Amino acid sequence: MTDHVVSFAPGRVNLIGEHTDYNDGLALPFAISQGVTVRAWALPERRIEAHARDLGQRDEFALEQPGAVSDWRAFVRGAAAELERAGVALRGARLEISGDVPRGGGLSSSAALEVALALALIALADAEQPDPTELAKICSKVENEWVGARTGLLDQLASLYGETDKALRIDFRSLDVQPVALELGGYRLVTLDSGERHANAASGYNERRAECARACEQLGVSSLRDATLEMADRLPAPLAQRARHVITENERVDATVAALCAGDLERVGELLDASHASLRDCYAISTPAVEATVTRLREAGAIGARIVGGGFGGNVLGLLAPGTHAPEGAIDVRPGPGARLLR
Ligand code: GLA
Repeated sequence: MTDHVVSFAPGRVNLIGEHTDYNDGLALPFAISQGVTVRAWALPERRIEAHARDLGQRDEFALEQPGAVSDWRAFVRGAAAELERAGVALRGARLEISGDVPRGGGLSSSAALEVALALALIALADAEQPDPTELAKICSKVENEWVGARTGLLDQLASLYGETDKALRIDFRSLDVQPVALELGGYRLVTLDSGERHANAASGYNERRAECARACEQLGVSSLRDATLEMADRLPAPLAQRARHVITENERVDATVAALCAGDLERVGELLDASHASLRDCYAISTPAVEATVTRLREAGAIGARIVGGGFGGNVLGLLAPGTHAPEGAIDVRPGPGARLLR
């Protein structure tokens, strides 16, 4: 049994398919090269000592009694508690956490943290790693029950299943994950930070989720995957607009897969724009800072740009045409491998 392990879990960019995961819908994310690294050393006692290096903060708790806390500590305590609840007998550990995904920026810093913690704790305990989809569900409970963000499975699945040069078409009804080649030729995908920060638990994220649930109730369907535009139009505002976004966004995911397969990146750009317009006008999760960021990307020659992640700030994704220059501060993103042990 090893006494020292190192794990890495990537953040993700969602190419398209936003706010569809908790609606049994479709999305097309990819894992990026930025992520969270956890170094773990075994301790003789059943106790966790955690050090968030980037924040210069520490936490300590007994595995028997993790206790509820807020901020990054909730992820560590939640990950340990949910793994034990799932039947993994953990060992005590000293954890060093560091990362390079911007926190609260819509690039899934939270899932990268949960997944990296889970991989390290499981490996240190010499336990068998659950199937990635099961592990994604355990990690998502950390966010739902310990952090208070009622997020779906998009981020965890993207982080765990990521593949070099591939996006992942995820069907959240069946949880089927299909790699789709993401060949950009001379085009580039970049993210540009709007400078505005969100916390999924505090933002309108939970409110949007509740609105979708109300829309389903009123339509008598179990999820918006079963709703049509005609049905959506019968709903009162703003539920009609929320449902319209989800229904059309699912269609845009498959249209994007088709465009990628045909090598038609101009069409991908149009679909990114259409997704952004729907998120802004129907889902109402854009902000003036995000709109200004979209404009900067467009002025730099982006043929498509859209907000990524939960919304209300964070990063904007842009598809830049060959021969154009990214605006200052933009970061190139390309699909990389999923979460793994480095040691
Ligand atoms: C956040 C959540 C995901 C997903 C996206 C929106 O990233 O964590 O589950 O709902 O927002 O697509």
